[in-house]
Amino acid sequence: MPRQFFVGGNFKMNGVAQSITDIVKNLNAAKLDNSTEVVISPPAIYLALTRELADPKIGVAAQNVYDKPNGAFTGEISVEQLRDTKINWAVIGHSERRVILKETDEFIARKTKAAIEGGVSVIFCIGETLEEREANKTIEVVTRQLNAAAKELSAEQWEKVVIAYEPVWAIGTGKVATTEQAQEVHAAIRKWLGESISAQAQEDVRIIYGGSVSEKNCRELATQPDVDGFLVGGASLKPAFVDIINARI
Ligand code: G3H
Repeated sequence: MPRQFFVGGNFKMNGVAQSITDIVKNLNAAKLDNSTEVVISPPAIYLALTRELADPKIGVAAQNVYDKPNGAFTGEISVEQLRDTKINWAVIGHSERRVILKETDEFIARKTKAAIEGGVSVIFCIGETLEEREANKTIEVVTRQLNAAAKELSAEQWEKVVIAYEPVWAIGTGKVATTEQAQEVHAAIRKWLGESISAQAQEDVRIIYGGSVSEKNCRELATQPDVDGFLVGGASLKPAFVDIINARI
């Protein structure tokens, strides 16, 4: 079966109740490509509002989740609490959390395992910095990030993961990876899935691209055989997000 195209919208720490309501209502009213899976990720405080307002066809993702069950962890949100709020996705390992919040590969892998075991699917973010790309370390870096998750997950659990390749130098900078750069890394990730996880995972796991995706560049990126969708930041806050969701029609 062909992999279903997937478009995520990561609002990051943006929006207030009114603007998020407007974004969701705009998506509900838009004509969206039925064959594309759409998941939006508002700040934690607006998850319940978003879930209540969004059309049931639109998934909602938390931008983070903790790796432990409910308990004395001030400021954190558990997998159980996400499920209780009908939130079935989590973005884990975003470079802003890796770099600014100093999250390690191991912590990110544990959170991914906890989410999946609790019934929450994961948009698992990986990607290299500009310095790492210039030192020809891109594949080494993404492989290290993937290997950490592979230590925690069974082969079957990868079916609940969407891998988001997001070169750090392309995030919020307007410098999108070229279609060739994106396809090259996505193909390497798919090869890694075959070699390190299973032939099934290699075939089924979706690999999406993130980093300055816009309504202008999405169509060309979407033509690449291993680009199964996008994780969109800034543009997901704008009406043009609809054009990105519809990149293949
Ligand atoms: O999660 C989304 C990525 O960080 C991309 O953000 O589209 O604003 O570059 P951006």
